[in-house]
Amino acid sequence: MAEIRAAAEAQPNIALIKYWGKRDVARNLPAVGSLSLTLGSLWTRMQVCLSPELDGDTLVVNGEPDDGMLPRVSRCLDRAAGPDRWFAAVDSECNFPIAAGLASSASAFAALTVAASAASGRSRDTLALARIAGAASGSAARSLYGGIVELDARDDEIEVSSLAEPGDWPLRVVVAVTSHGPKPVSSGAAMTLSAETSPFYSSWVERQACDLDVARSAVAARDFARLAAVSEHNCLKMHSVMWTSRPPVVYWNKATIACMQAVRDLQASGHAVFFTIDAGPQVKAVCLPESEQVVTAALRDVAGVESIMSTGLGAGARLLDPA
Ligand code: PMV
Repeated sequence: MAEIRAAAEAQPNIALIKYWGKRDVARNLPAVGSLSLTLGSLWTRMQVCLSPELDGDTLVVNGEPDDGMLPRVSRCLDRAAGPDRWFAAVDSECNFPIAAGLASSASAFAALTVAASAASGRSRDTLALARIAGAASGSAARSLYGGIVELDARDDEIEVSSLAEPGDWPLRVVVAVTSHGPKPVSSGAAMTLSAETSPFYSSWVERQACDLDVARSAVAARDFARLAAVSEHNCLKMHSVMWTSRPPVVYWNKATIACMQAVRDLQASGHAVFFTIDAGPQVKAVCLPESEQVVTAALRDVAGVESIMSTGLGAGARLLDPA
């Protein structure tokens, strides 16, 4: 029988109300809900070729073989294409730095799930695909949806939905890349450490529903100031949990803090902007379109900023025509 190919594209997403901690490590169920922005112009494209001729799975990322990620990719293929599937040749291309706190695993596993599911001839709805992607990487579940997305983690299965389409609220995200290197600790390992050792972990989990309520209602009312306040607070709480883990998990560098200060200065001069930071040293500044130029210029001037990317909100993961 001939091989079967499918290709998909997904955008990374940036959480404003963060996922940090797992309720069930084996099933990769998050301990808390989260709310995120799916980005527009950053992407991962995945091509999956299932073939009876292969004698093992292979993974190529941006033209180079990547055996480190292969076991996670194979497990995701098993869930998306079924454990009785043929072996797969997976080819991934990404237009932004990988494993540096820019949510590359979110777009990668979202695209992989969509492509592998289609290649295996299965027809699934978006939520079913989100649950499969989420089993590989918690944040990947959100990249199945576009615009502003909420993931609810209260029940035994996650629920994910879009709160606003990309065009509903034209937010802009300016990403200041302060290091292109990979992160020192994976987010999965760091989450386990936080749950086991940070004295702040339980209050982080307890208060998440309240932050989600505030953020959801700020999105519904398009209230930027409210969304800014709750998002920065939630980000700093997550990093406080990381910092108070033993050993501490510190993803920031000098430029990360200088960027946060630059955002504070912009706020003081009346700009609608706020920062958020994930498991890496990059700073993401979320702003209204009228402040984008000033925000970009200010962050570009910060010592240690290596590059700047900016984007609006984008669509959920989708199939592409195979190359
Ligand atoms: O999906 P993971 O396992 O890479 O974890 C993502 C964790 C954060 O990016 C720090 C927060 C989030 O909600 O995306």
